[in-house]
Amino acid sequence: MSASALLSRTAPLYQRVKSVIPPMEWPVFADDIEAILDLKRRRNAVILAHNYMTPEIFHCVSDIVGDSLALAREATKVDADVIVLAGVHFMAETAKLLNPAKTVLIPDTRAGCSLAASITAADVRLMRERHPGVPIVTYVNSSAAVKAESDICCTSGNAKKVVESLGVDRVIMLPDEYLAQNIAAQTKVKIIAWAGHCEVHERFTAAEVRALRGDHPGVTILAHPECPPEVIAEADYTGSTADMSAYVGREKPGRVVLLTECSMADNVSVHHPDVDFVRPCNLCPHMKRITLGNIRTALEEMRYEVNIDPAIAVRARQSVERMLAV
Ligand code: 13P
Ligand code: SF4
Repeated sequence: MSASALLSRTAPLYQRVKSVIPPMEWPVFADDIEAILDLKRRRNAVILAHNYMTPEIFHCVSDIVGDSLALAREATKVDADVIVLAGVHFMAETAKLLNPAKTVLIPDTRAGCSLAASITAADVRLMRERHPGVPIVTYVNSSAAVKAESDICCTSGNAKKVVESLGVDRVIMLPDEYLAQNIAAQTKVKIIAWAGHCEVHERFTAAEVRALRGDHPGVTILAHPECPPEVIAEADYTGSTADMSAYVGREKPGRVVLLTECSMADNVSVHHPDVDFVRPCNLCPHMKRITLGNIRTALEEMRYEVNIDPAIAVRARQSVERMLAV
């Protein structure tokens, strides 16, 4: 098969991402992309991809893209036999919880999350003991075992709504301290937090935001709620990755900064060529473990299958389903 034939077959896909992938790099991706599209048909598989996937994954091989909430919601509607989760491990677990009879694959089992790693099921039990009767709202960025010890899950896109849906004056919110503090600033409900942090968003500082405003007068600054509260206070808007993307589409700022993971601006910019994206960003080493190469191997070898202890799954599923019902 000639390289030029491959390039001409994949040219329409390259058109989608030409603003963020230099022409020299495309030949490296084209073969894997074609193989993955073929494997998806043969395996009856779909690829669910988080907004932090690199553009060749996000725009060229994925079937469903979005924030954690959208991926969880869409996972309930999948009718393929196989789901490849292009994202981190907790997202693959959530997809499996919602699709116990389907094969869910994660291309690299090391794709973890500093938030999920910050808390264990035993820690949650201890929190419950310390605060009897206080409901536990757990961010989806957590293991299935932690979800199983919780009352309800939330994402960055619905946290306030979930907290207020419980009709109580106090909740425990785990494990992201900054998300908890940022939601506490928007609601009358008292929030007891845990000291987990996202290693990507905790690195942004208020001084950095002020410097950006000085260097780029008139810039609009959007921040993810996993950022520290002092960063949120300096930003123009706070929302989940899907909310940030929707904001850019709706408000069409002339110049924008997305205080979040690096691939986010690349992916959103593809749809908004008239918006100038200023790109300070932090890479998530866990998200970046997922590549076209390991997605292809996942589908070729049907690895790595995500399985959850049924006793844990039944309780973790309840927490996720309660969230989806809010
Ligand atoms: P959302 O896409 O749900 O905003 O989450 C961001 C994130 O850090 C996921 O790991
Ligand atoms: Fe976890 Fe942060 Fe990476 Fe998301 S960006 S997977 S919250 S470490």
